[in-house]
Amino acid sequence: MSRIVYVNGEYLPEGEAQVSIFDRGFLMADGVYEVTTVIDGKLIDFDGHFTRLERSLSELDIRNPMDRDRWLEAHRELIARNGLDLGMIYLQVTRGAPGDRDFIFPDPETTPPTVVLFTQSNPALVDSPKARKGIKVISIDDIRWGRRDIKTVQLLYPSMGKMMAQKQGADDAWMVQDGEVTEGTSNNAYIIKNGRIITRKLSNDILHGITRAAVLRFAREAQMPVEERGFTLEEAKAADEAFVTSASTFVMPVVEIDGVRLGEGVPGPLASRLREIYIEESRKAAI
Ligand code: PDD
Repeated sequence: MSRIVYVNGEYLPEGEAQVSIFDRGFLMADGVYEVTTVIDGKLIDFDGHFTRLERSLSELDIRNPMDRDRWLEAHRELIARNGLDLGMIYLQVTRGAPGDRDFIFPDPETTPPTVVLFTQSNPALVDSPKARKGIKVISIDDIRWGRRDIKTVQLLYPSMGKMMAQKQGADDAWMVQDGEVTEGTSNNAYIIKNGRIITRKLSNDILHGITRAAVLRFAREAQMPVEERGFTLEEAKAADEAFVTSASTFVMPVVEIDGVRLGEGVPGPLASRLREIYIEESRKAAI
């Protein structure tokens, strides 16, 4: 069945949706995106994603073409039109299509941003076979640019990282800079040692995960101590447990790093508990 997608104010069958070949998202990766999870047809942490979208756009000097209520309406309309129960909404805003290729930013008065949204269904989102088994990660150098706090569509290296992992029989890659883990290719990274949850602190080196903020809040509420600091690969391999977080994976246990099994090689109790709490609380707060 063909999806209904949103392009610049219109709801269209996916086969009829079009973006210009001169769009700066296509030519220069000049755009930002968000991924918001949908459970029971409702949005998880919509306001967190909206606030980060505003920040990403403002850091790149791209005008936000819609206010919060119009963004929410577009999300809800797509959920309704596509009968989405479990999955996500992807949104992308680019600096638009000036009608030629030029490094200089176009005048925003004559070149409006391009806005695209679409749904992606994922029936295995909550009851996830991967979460029951845990995932394996490899480590790779973090050679991305210095503004990873902006959620840009420059996803070539993360994509290459996932391919490197796949070639080695793993599920994902953790990126390492100056000896410390920054984050996963599309998620934030954590280890647990002696009951303490350790994750890199926020800076321009990592994306400020919306799931990260919620999970750390739930962890503190559940009296689990949290340390926001960098950790090395050696520390990670010697950890009791590890996990990653993102809108599309929630809390996903990691059971192997560079071929080294953590604990018994199965999802640990704290990561599994955090996953349960996150799903339960997010479900309650969904809009
Ligand atoms: N990725 N770090 C990176 C590099 C990411 O791409 C993501 C999200 C995260 C987690 O952020 P959040 O909790 O707000 O989803 C961390 C999305 C899901 C993606 O690219 O599909």
